[in-house]
Amino acid sequence: MKKINSKGENKYGHTAPYPEELVQYVINRTIPYLKENIRIIDPFLGSGTTSIVANRMEYNSTGIELNENYFTLSCERLENNFENLSFNF
Ligand SMILES: C[S@@+](CC[C@H](N)C(=O)[O-])C[C@H]1O[C@@H](n2cnc3c(N)ncnc32)[C@H](O)[C@@H]1O
Repeated sequence: MKKINSKGENKYGHTAPYPEELVQYVINRTIPYLKENIRIIDPFLGSGTTSIVANRMEYNSTGIELNENYFTLSCERLENNFENLSFNF
């Protein structure tokens, strides 16, 4: 079991980011049941972990985030992790 930080801010500046391994596990377990044109959606994007992992696995992704600071943080993390990224707002 992996402990998820629930107190204070972590290194990404978000209090409760998902571990990347968790996102990758869920995507890998779900993909076999889906068809083509797969898009990974996280309606609670936070620091952007889901989109980072999805992009690394070469899937398009959509993220929704209420908190403007976390939204900016997730965009920064995505820009820092990937070149030639295109955003649609
Ligand atoms: C547990 S965090 C998600 C963490 C994220 N998966 C990550 O790895 O950083 C939940 C996020 O949902 C956002 N949130 C809460 N209510 C929301 C809503 N109604 N619509 C969009 N985002 C919301 C919060 O601001 C918070 O960043």
